Amino acid sequence: MTVVESSLEQGFVRVCEAAAVAAAQTMGYGDRKHSDHVSVEAMRRELDRLAMRGRIVIGEGERDKAPMLYVGEEVGALKGQNEGLEVDIAVDPLEGTNLCATGTEGAIAVLAASERGGLLHAPDIYMDKIVVGPTARRTAIHLDAPPAENLRSIADAYGREVSDLTVVVLERKRHEELIADIRQAGARIRLIQDGDLSAGIAAAVRGTGIHAVMGIGGAPEGVLTAAAMRCLGGEIHARLTPLDPEQEQRLVDLQIEDVDRIYSRSDLAPGENLLFCCTGVTDGQLLKGIRFFGGGYRSSTLFMSLERRLIRFIDSIRRDETDTPVLFQ
Ligand code: FBP
Repeated sequence: MTVVESSLEQGFVRVCEAAAVAAAQTMGYGDRKHSDHVSVEAMRRELDRLAMRGRIVIGEGERDKAPMLYVGEEVGALKGQNEGLEVDIAVDPLEGTNLCATGTEGAIAVLAASERGGLLHAPDIYMDKIVVGPTARRTAIHLDAPPAENLRSIADAYGREVSDLTVVVLERKRHEELIADIRQAGARIRLIQDGDLSAGIAAAVRGTGIHAVMGIGGAPEGVLTAAAMRCLGGEIHARLTPLDPEQEQRLVDLQIEDVDRIYSRSDLAPGENLLFCCTGVTDGQLLKGIRFFGGGYRSSTLFMSLERRLIRFIDSIRRDETDTPVLFQ
């Protein structure tokens, strides 16, 4: 596709909203698989309504492991036809399944789209990442540099001290050393239970108080983060990091030989016609979660288009009846 038609913009917003609403209806039920399942179903249903020939490149897993939104699945109302807009799609219908299941901040429904080949089909393994916003994008950060060095570079870019930076890190045993190093360097840390993708988006927006995300998280989330960074002007440096023999085998199966390769945002999301969209499920730093008010709901969505240099915050109210009162909140 040369230009992703703006008609798809509305459609992708509906797709993310539907997934977020479905998940939000299960918030706090303590069943992360169920929350994920309903959001996947809702996202798939809405994707199939869009006038496109879509192909999932980042999804719920490989074909034999995921019944819906598996990698390679064709979606869209024009699938299987010879004519119609071809779109590659990366989805995470519920990023932060545990966050939703426990009613904790930061769960979102996410989608990125591009022309064919514009989003890397990264395997569903782990990825070591460092994410920074536009302010620090051109500094000398390096995935293999000691955290103290990277933090010094980021602080210089912001024109402040390292102690004035806040870094988000997933609270995991594998990050004990990283956390100790960041503390030693003097930066503040926000430990999160899940959701390094939303944290990456927050790092690319001034005023959120987040200046970087560091550590090992999912590779699919890395590709989605890269798409967001292209739209927001931030950067991600990342390396595929298998943490067990099964993940190592995935690299072999996919014939990924350069296992030390460091990917940038443009390697992970090279598309020229990138779209990125996410809707809050639970409240987060940039987006509010779904608010049900009886007879409808209110949602917050971030929609971005690289080509149109567009960043749109969408605040929507959907009502079952037209006479349901609208609340100002
Ligand atoms: P889910 O939405 O699949 O539960 O993933 C949440 C998440 O925290 C991601 O944000 C992160 O990249 C990944 O899981 C980290 O994986 P793990 O929980 O195995 O450390």
